Amino acid sequence: MKVLAINGSLRKDSFSSRLAAAAAGLAPEGVEVTQYTGLDTIPGFNQDLEDGAVPAAVEDLREQLEASDAVLIVTPEYNASAPGALKNAIDWSSRPHGESALAGLPAAIISASPMPFGALWAGQQIRKAFTITGTPTVEREVAIGKIDEKLGDDGTLTDEGARDEVTALLAELEELVGQVNQEEAEVAA
Ligand code: FNR
Repeated sequence: MKVLAINGSLRKDSFSSRLAAAAAGLAPEGVEVTQYTGLDTIPGFNQDLEDGAVPAAVEDLREQLEASDAVLIVTPEYNASAPGALKNAIDWSSRPHGESALAGLPAAIISASPMPFGALWAGQQIRKAFTITGTPTVEREVAIGKIDEKLGDDGTLTDEGARDEVTALLAELEELVGQVNQEEAEVAA
């Protein structure tokens, strides 16, 4: 099973990108987590372009989503919201209407912050967007506070509670992919 991890921060050495890499190491056997690295190349969403001259970076993201069995969002929070670049990528991926790369694609969300609430609102905002994009999302809400104290120099998640949460989330994502595939097979039969 292939999971595309999209990290909402463009900052080099960001906690979320390190966390996304740590999450890849916690995936169940047979679940391969690949990091999406093109977020900084996606232009601002423009509905005039969605049916025709879609930017190459957007096509690339859509292709990567379509080649994946699931998406894992790992996000920080800016001003009590999801980062604009991440929301922008979600808007592009959801269009044009009827051809969304996010419709029916199982998702899981991790938010993280050096602040105690772990960017909870950013995670909830993405979850709300996913209800509209038709993206089935694992219910477990993983919001990791004090992330600056929970990542080791070797790239691992050193906090046991956070590690357990991420491990459980990825197992639930794998289950959700199984459920969605089964439902699709039943509809096709
Ligand atoms: C922040 N930060 C922040 N943190 C938080 O938990 N809630 C918030 O609303 C905000 N708001 C905010 C706005 C702006 C413009 C910046 C630059 C930062 C702090 C943020 O969590 C911190 O910078 C993280 O380190 C950003 O994540 P990455 O880049 O380390 O993944």
